Amino acid sequence: DALSNISGKTTTKYVGAAVNEGFFDDAHYKETSSDYYNLVTAENSCKFSAVQKTQGTFDFASCDQVAQFAEDNDMAFRGHNTCWGVYNPSWLDNGNFTSSDFVGILENHVTTVLDHYQGKAVAWDIVNEAISDSAPYDFKANTWNNITADADGINTNYIDVAFRAARKADPNAKLFYNDYNVASSQGWSQGKSDAMYNMVKSMLDRGVPIDGVGLQMHVGTGYDLVDGVIANMERYGALGLEVHITELDLVCSQKNGYDCVWSDDMEQQQGELYATLLKACLDTDACTNFETWGFTDAHSWLEDGTHPLPFDENYNQKKAVGSMLDIL
Ligand code: XIL
Repeated sequence: DALSNISGKTTTKYVGAAVNEGFFDDAHYKETSSDYYNLVTAENSCKFSAVQKTQGTFDFASCDQVAQFAEDNDMAFRGHNTCWGVYNPSWLDNGNFTSSDFVGILENHVTTVLDHYQGKAVAWDIVNEAISDSAPYDFKANTWNNITADADGINTNYIDVAFRAARKADPNAKLFYNDYNVASSQGWSQGKSDAMYNMVKSMLDRGVPIDGVGLQMHVGTGYDLVDGVIANMERYGALGLEVHITELDLVCSQKNGYDCVWSDDMEQQQGELYATLLKACLDTDACTNFETWGFTDAHSWLEDGTHPLPFDENYNQKKAVGSMLDIL
């Protein structure tokens, strides 16, 4: 009854989860993820700070554990990520580098990482979370944004640099741009969502290699923009791109004015929303991966007691699992 088995039989899509090799000594953790999913992503261990903690020294031990776990269990491995503005090592953030130094560092990192996982990763988030959260949705100020356009006008910013290096290093890996608050082209996320669409379209127009976009979807049990998610996925499909839902979780939170009290009814509502979003992905050609950020409430990056994931703290199925299996 695994989600992955059923999705594998009926569609060519991935149903995945982020995992953390720190919990691999728990057999129950490993079994639940490998029984139910056909794709995994490392929650943290393939990020820049994990892989290149010291300048020029690459350490793939932890990231390799997740890639190996995927291989051992016939799951796909999705790389996350090579370039992000936060959680970077201090040598990178605090170093005295010029724009061309940063270009060299970024090219070397992307090339080394994609090279190492050649033939092992089905996709990579090449750049993560570059776009600001409010109008005019410029690139966020961060270390990488110190990269300025090069003299011959081929690379106009760090995103171009990263994607071009990635395609050169591994022509077969699918290259993704991944961000949050961009899943729906309607409602409160319309502004940033349109900005990302325009950025990606401009990359294509300029010949920057990109194969897809990741919609993180850290949202909540009250999320009501599913039609806009479908419309958004379709417009990327029309550009010839794939869409991965990469980091879905549905938090029950009493913060930010949204009053969620956990109950059987709330679990039911959450389950139905998980199923509706899975169905949206299955029904939309452009969507090729439906992935949650973790799978058990025991190990979520979100606050304890917010119940965001399809399995409970003891790895028992919550209503979400049954609801998702029902629509498959
Ligand atoms: C988070 C991890 O879940 C945490 O353990 C870590 O402390 C910070 O990063 N967007 C992303 C992910 O792209 O990499 C983030 O993961 C969650 C938000």
